[in-house]
Amino acid sequence: MSSDVRRPLISGNWKMNHNHFEAIQCVQKLAYILSKEDLAAVDVSIHPPFTDLRSVQTLIDADELKFILGAQHCHEADSGAFTGEVSAAFLAKLNVSYVIVGHSERRELFGETDEVVHNKIVAIQKHKMTPILCVGETLAEREAGRTHEKVLGQVRSALEKRSVEQVKSMVIAYEPIWAIGTGKTATAGDAQVMIEAIRQEVAKVSSGSAAAAIRLQYGGSVKASNIAEIMSQPDIDGVLVGGASLDPAEFGRICQYRLRPLN
Ligand code: 13P
Repeated sequence: MSSDVRRPLISGNWKMNHNHFEAIQCVQKLAYILSKEDLAAVDVSIHPPFTDLRSVQTLIDADELKFILGAQHCHEADSGAFTGEVSAAFLAKLNVSYVIVGHSERRELFGETDEVVHNKIVAIQKHKMTPILCVGETLAEREAGRTHEKVLGQVRSALEKRSVEQVKSMVIAYEPIWAIGTGKTATAGDAQVMIEAIRQEVAKVSSGSAAAAIRLQYGGSVKASNIAEIMSQPDIDGVLVGGASLDPAEFGRICQYRLRPLN
């Protein structure tokens, strides 16, 4: 079930790396590496830490860069007594377009439940931004044959009560937890199988048109050396890149995957 209308989306999740000076340098270098043609062929979103967002936004605006500004997280409420948190409303004011939600590190280390993830999706879409919903299984769940149950359960919970139009505009990133930051990548074929299953689940819980339009990413140890094979899979529309997005030369090569033949 693939479609020509889904633009490839390459997203760089910097996690807690790069202060705002380093962020500016990194984005400037990336802008130097990527040509107009590169950026006409793919969407590139950059997700720096909160403290960098204003600097990166100013740079994107001033230099009219074609990068999409993204965030890594937000709170579900618009404002209130939530010390240390940042609302979706504030991110929208900074021209943030994409917000990662339900990353496995947030789920595991900060106790984000499926219910909280769903509420955040509602908040992100209320403020006209695009959620990048992360789903994925642990190694133990995979070995116990529970991958589909876990991942598709996360998808169902996140999409509850979302309209077809809202589902169409979302992004879902399949990130097997055992492949994050470990150097282990799901084989492109395995990633395709799971991502196709996610698309079928979207068709079931939302509609066929939502399943055809929603963009599905793979994440987990994506590098310049494996991107072309991953992107050659019919249901994979993009990638969510952690470690390799910190180096502009490597991330630039990932964004230029079309120039790199499969070997
Ligand atoms: P790595 O690319 O470092 O494995 O991280 C993946 C990830 O968690 C992106 O959100």
